[in-house]
Amino acid sequence: MDVGEAGAGDAGSGDAEWGEEPEVTSVWLRRGVDVTVAHPARRYDYWLGGKDNFPADRESGDAVAAAFPTIRTAVVENRRFLGRAVRFLAEDAGIDQFLDIGTGIPAADNTHEVAQRIVPSSRVVYVDNDPIVLAHARALLTSHHADGATAYIDADLRDPAKILADPALPGTLDLSRPVALMLLAVLHFVFDEHRPYDLVGRLVDSLAPGSYLVMSHTTNDLMSAETRAKVEAVTASQGGYQPRTRAEFARFFEGFDLVEPGLVPITDWRADGEPPPRPTAADVGMYGAVARLR
Ligand SMILES: C[S@@+](CC[C@H](N)C(=O)[O-])C[C@H]1O[C@@H](n2cnc3c(N)ncnc32)[C@H](O)[C@@H]1O
Repeated sequence: MDVGEAGAGDAGSGDAEWGEEPEVTSVWLRRGVDVTVAHPARRYDYWLGGKDNFPADRESGDAVAAAFPTIRTAVVENRRFLGRAVRFLAEDAGIDQFLDIGTGIPAADNTHEVAQRIVPSSRVVYVDNDPIVLAHARALLTSHHADGATAYIDADLRDPAKILADPALPGTLDLSRPVALMLLAVLHFVFDEHRPYDLVGRLVDSLAPGSYLVMSHTTNDLMSAETRAKVEAVTASQGGYQPRTRAEFARFFEGFDLVEPGLVPITDWRADGEPPPRPTAADVGMYGAVARLR
């Protein structure tokens, strides 16, 4: 499937509960997208209140919410962390180029929208492996400013060579200048058997000194023992993600200097300007950090 087929994604932007319509489901099935199995991008869209999800995604989303009732707060908070990190990079760090891997179905304040509000000439390359995100790529490919640019690469984070070989990358970003590599709420979908530290290392090796790494990642560290037991049970039954400890998360940042306040729950990352009431670290269960490549 290529971006030329993006029109199919428009079916998800209407008012109908289209995910429940058998004919819409069969359109996706014919395109090789098995919407009968929950997928991270669509489940995340469900928690964010979007419409681009199917019964299987909602069922899985509800199962996670039964174990971790603040999951919706957590995903909203992750989007806020994304916004604060991009604002810091554009306003204070002089960054105008972003490589955003694990983009997600477009939501409010996508990376290029936040960045181009501050630096209109900002350039963003998005990467995701979900065909439904690809179908929605048109929304991501609409640069809000004529001076800026966006591109989309249909690829898997577990195949960095494919991402690095795609002409859209050098066609959009000047890799001789600093870039912010954005890996938000995606590395927990990459299990240790896929060597996540090596994958991130391959991408980082292609970046100029002064580039930044922005990451958020689920953890069970911040939860009560009771919630943790429930979440671990649901993780086992739903499969598909690997929470990491603080030390495991910190390993991704070797060779980088952490920006203040360092590696913290995302609720605590430069959140002074957020309106109260604020969620707790336990409500969200995610670490985040922004760091500069030496
Ligand atoms: C939880 S969403 C996060 C979206 C966005 N980064 C954010 O923080 O709001 C995770 C996204 O990562 C994508 N994803 C999961 N595994 C991936 C992989 N191996 N390669 C590329 N994308 C992946 C999913 O399709 C989904 O769109």
